[in-house]
Parts: sequence; C-alpha cells; structure tokens
Amino acid sequence: MLKPEMQAQIVAAAAIIRNGGVIALPTETVYGLAADASNQVAVNRIFEIKGRPADHPLIVHIADESQLTHWAREVPKSAKQLARQFWPGPLTLILPRSPQVSDSVTGGQDTVGLRVPDHPVALALLRALGPGGALAAPSANRYGRISPTTAAHVRDELGDSVDIILDGGPCQVGLESTIVSCLGDSVTLLRPGGIPLPAIEAVLQRKVDVADSTSAKIRVSGSLLSHYAPLTPTELVSRERFWQRASELEAQGLRVATLEWSAPDEVHSEHALIVRTAMPANPVAYGHLLYATLHQLDNAKFDRLLAEDPPHTADWAAVRDRLQRASYRA
Ligand code: TXA
Ligand code: MG
Repeated sequence: MLKPEMQAQIVAAAAIIRNGGVIALPTETVYGLAADASNQVAVNRIFEIKGRPADHPLIVHIADESQLTHWAREVPKSAKQLARQFWPGPLTLILPRSPQVSDSVTGGQDTVGLRVPDHPVALALLRALGPGGALAAPSANRYGRISPTTAAHVRDELGDSVDIILDGGPCQVGLESTIVSCLGDSVTLLRPGGIPLPAIEAVLQRKVDVADSTSAKIRVSGSLLSHYAPLTPTELVSRERFWQRASELEAQGLRVATLEWSAPDEVHSEHALIVRTAMPANPVAYGHLLYATLHQLDNAKFDRLLAEDPPHTADWAAVRDRLQRASYRA
C-alpha cells in the first residue's frame, strides 16, 4: 500500500502528464523521465530536457500486458512468452509498432520498445492515467551520463527542469532493463540488463542472438560506446594488472578510487593516494549499487576511477557492459 501523501502526489503527477508535462518517476531499474506517450509535444520536451538526439527511441511503459496490442501491431509468440514470465519487470520488448505510435517515440523506426515496470509508484501512476495510458520514458539523466537510482540523483542533475519528482526510494535492480527484440521469428538481445540472458533462453527454450553493440544499425543510445559515463576518467582493469596500474597512476600523483569485487580485504597500506571501495562479489548486489557508487565517487572528485573487471560470464554481463561503457574514452 502506498502512503496517502504518495497517493496524492500520484494524482498530481497524473494531472501533470495529462496536461503535457514531464515528470521523474521511480521504476525498479532506474528513475525515468516520463511524459504521455501519445502526446508528441510532451515527448519532445523529454528530448530537450535530456539533451538527447531526436532519432534515439524511447521506451513506452504500460500498465500490463493487455496494452501490448495498442502499441504493437504484431506480438510474436516469443514476446508473449517473455511478457508473461517477466512482466512487471526489467525487460523491454522491441516489437513492430502500431500506426498510432508517434515518430518522436520511436525515433522514426518501424519498431517500438515496451515494458511494464515493477514499481508500485510507476504502476499506480499508469493506472491513474486510465485505459490506454502509457508513459514514454528514458532514464532521467542527461544524455550520456550515469542513470539515476535515487530521487536525489534526479534532483541533482535535472532539478527544476521537471514538473515533479516522485520519490519511490532507491531502485531495487539499479541497472536498466534487458532489451530484447522480437521481430517475426528472430529474437535478439540488444542490451544486457536486469534479467540475464540464460533466464530468457530458458523461457523460450532456444538460443538468443546477441547484437554486436559496436555495429548496431539502429540508434540505441545505450549501444554507443561512451555511455553511462562518470565525469571522472574511468579504467576497467583485470585483477592481475590492478595494483600495477593503481601504482602507476599514484606515481603520477593522481588520486585514485577503486571499485573491487574480488579481494577487497587485501592489505595495500602503502598506497596513500588510493581510496578503495569494496563492491559485492555477487552480480545482482553489485548491479544494485553500481550507479549509486559511481555518482558518489564522481562527486568526490577523484582524478581516476579504477574498476576491477568482473568475470566474463552471463550473470555479470549487465554490470560488465555498464563498466565498459563507463570506462570508454574516445
Ligand atoms: O530500465 C529501463 O529500461 C529504463 C527505465 C526508465 O524504464 N529506461 C531506459 O531508457 O533505460 P533509455 O532511453 O535510457 O534507454 C532505452 C534504450 C535506448 O538505448 C533506446 O535506444 C532503446 O532502449 N530503444 C527504445 N526503443 C527502441 C527501438 N524501437 N529499437 C531499438 N532500441 C530501442
Ligand atoms: Mg539511459
């Protein structure tokens, strides 16, 4: 049950959305910057606030599976199976769009991204919008920056540019949804995220293709190499090279913060310029903390962040993907 104050805020937020406003709302993955998906002017405001190029498509958030056919003109069996298993939850399905979906939502593509978020505040707002109500929402950060996992992150970055920020506490998953495209018979993983690939393959009982993010034909902003980036230059280094690299940076007089998952208890007392952060050795727990940790370390203004490379296994894929993007520098 939501508290009465939150219920009142949801009523206010629904009115703002109906009037073409833009709000920030919690989901289980990250906070979203949301507007009425069927109001083109409102959707355009999202792009302005984010500073995001207009050809990057947005995810449409819906209240439940029954809304799918309003937004997608074709729902393949694979999509139905995945929706049934994982919604509400951190899975976005890319499907052929129906005619009423506006170009500003899809970035002019013939497909639309859809998901049912698993957060009581987001679901209550969607229900308050009534049948057919849907929210187009990217993550509530400026283009290319770290996604917010608390209302304070949104306030720090977007402040007055949104009409209301609904505070639903820290996001439980902490990383964006897994994106899977289901077009005809082909099923492709476009972005690793809250639901690991093996869980998707288990439901479909088949192997799923993984898109090569470096050669993506479509404009998936999360697939641009430098994305989800802290302002502090960040390096991703294996355990074997970790302390050698840390020492090199320290010898240059740089203040370094580490993110370590495997051996945070090792003693390295001789490193005066290095501040160590022990990250969980479990990928789900690590994912939950990653963005909050990056926000915090970014604010502390180190000269360099040094993240230890996680295992190259499916359960770490989403964390590793975000660390790689955070550490890429052109
Ligand atoms: O967990 C999430 O997915 C969060 C919460 C707020 O729902 N949203 C999110 O949105 O991460 P955003 O815009 O930051 O990332 C959505 C990704 C983008 O990379 C976008 O290009 C891709 O989804 N996307 C959306 N529609 C698409 C489409 N039709 N085809 C391919 N990619 C699409
Ligand atoms: Mg984003």
